[in-house]
Amino acid sequence: MERTIKEQRLSKIKSLKGVLFIPPDKSISHRAVIFASLAKGKSVIRNFLRAGDPLSTVNAMKALGVEIEERETDSDSFDQSLDLIINGKGIEELKEPFDVIDCGNSGTTMRLLSGVLSSIPYFSVLTGDDSLKQRPMARIVKPLKQMGAKIVGRSNDSFPPLAIKGDNLKGIDYRMAVASAQVKSCLMLAALFAEGISTISEPYKSRDHSERMLSAMGASLKIDGLTIKVEGQTSNNYSLSPLEVVVPSDFSSAAFFIIAALLVPNSEILIRDVGINPTRTGLLTILESMEASVKLENIRNMSGEPVADIFCVSCDKLKPVKIGKEIMPSLIDEFPILCVLASQAEGISEIRGAEELRVKESDRISSMVTELRKMGVEMEEYPDGVAIRGKTPLRGSILESYKDHRIAMSLSVAALIAEGETVIKDPECVDISFPSFYDKLRQLQVD
Ligand code: S3P
Repeated sequence: MERTIKEQRLSKIKSLKGVLFIPPDKSISHRAVIFASLAKGKSVIRNFLRAGDPLSTVNAMKALGVEIEERETDSDSFDQSLDLIINGKGIEELKEPFDVIDCGNSGTTMRLLSGVLSSIPYFSVLTGDDSLKQRPMARIVKPLKQMGAKIVGRSNDSFPPLAIKGDNLKGIDYRMAVASAQVKSCLMLAALFAEGISTISEPYKSRDHSERMLSAMGASLKIDGLTIKVEGQTSNNYSLSPLEVVVPSDFSSAAFFIIAALLVPNSEILIRDVGINPTRTGLLTILESMEASVKLENIRNMSGEPVADIFCVSCDKLKPVKIGKEIMPSLIDEFPILCVLASQAEGISEIRGAEELRVKESDRISSMVTELRKMGVEMEEYPDGVAIRGKTPLRGSILESYKDHRIAMSLSVAALIAEGETVIKDPECVDISFPSFYDKLRQLQVD
């Protein structure tokens, strides 16, 4: 991943056509490698995402002494994919890391791993890049401390680096203030190895990949609406069963191509094998209300997750949309591309209840407002979201990506319908989740 392309130049295109496979799901990849490392026995993870963030997790688990074999995937249908063979020996066989663990740009690595490290009797330090070091950690530190972990971090234990000394944890009864799958999964992991029963509840439903995968591995979880009860397994004869999974393609990566196909005239694309877990596909509900033409075909199950092929055709008229906080967790990563889409709807769209976007890889509200305004979009910025006036003809501009993968890809989609050339700065950040993004665009592009 040592590419350093300083800018990406893009211009208006005539249409996008074809069938494509996009990379594997990032959230499921992280979970598969962490959970398999905690299981006893050989796990096989096929179609693991070979990209910056999940590779940070692989390196972290290796630093804890887990044996992970990486093999080339032998299928043309997969993209940016690796097969992993993990010989899990259970949490009690994890080793104290010799050095600081670098989580790179990955909030998921740092937050989920903190739940594991809090349960083992070792000293560890987690750090990351400049973006990760500015992301809030009090949301995990506070409940983990209540469970008995010793954690310190920068700025009064609020930001990375985090130094953790794990211990025997006690179960917790905890109401999360924000709907966050990273916080929920961190606490589920800690609760799994704590004494007694933990009850974790969230204000709105966030992605449930951890619940699905841990249940399939034999963890004792009871899910009732927004509340999860986790039975802590402190006895020695307990173990998680190993995994045998194929990771579906990432809906959040597919989203860039879904929107590109809707916005670029005369387009028609089919995206194969995409995860359509309902906790991830709020965008599809929004697209339906905007009267966009997106169809799910061949709906089936892949390793405990629903998948489908997604067929998208361009749309000349889109209705504006109002998005509020209830649906936000199910489209949390689609905020930047939704701003681009809303700029092409007929009327004023509002996306509110999105304050969490201020603490992602960049402040995604301010990043999108600043950059789309350069392209000519009229936008109002609120503390918790935006109002966007459409339909605006976009003009090519020199745009910052803020080294945030989803901002770079969203602005690149906007560039495909803009008059004149657009320059995206620091585009190599797409390697975090979608290293083949620009190749795929070129592959589908009809000039
Ligand atoms: C993720 C959860 C989301 C999402 C992130 C990945 C996960 O973050 O934005 O890209 O894998 O659990 P939050 O849980 O903090 O909202």
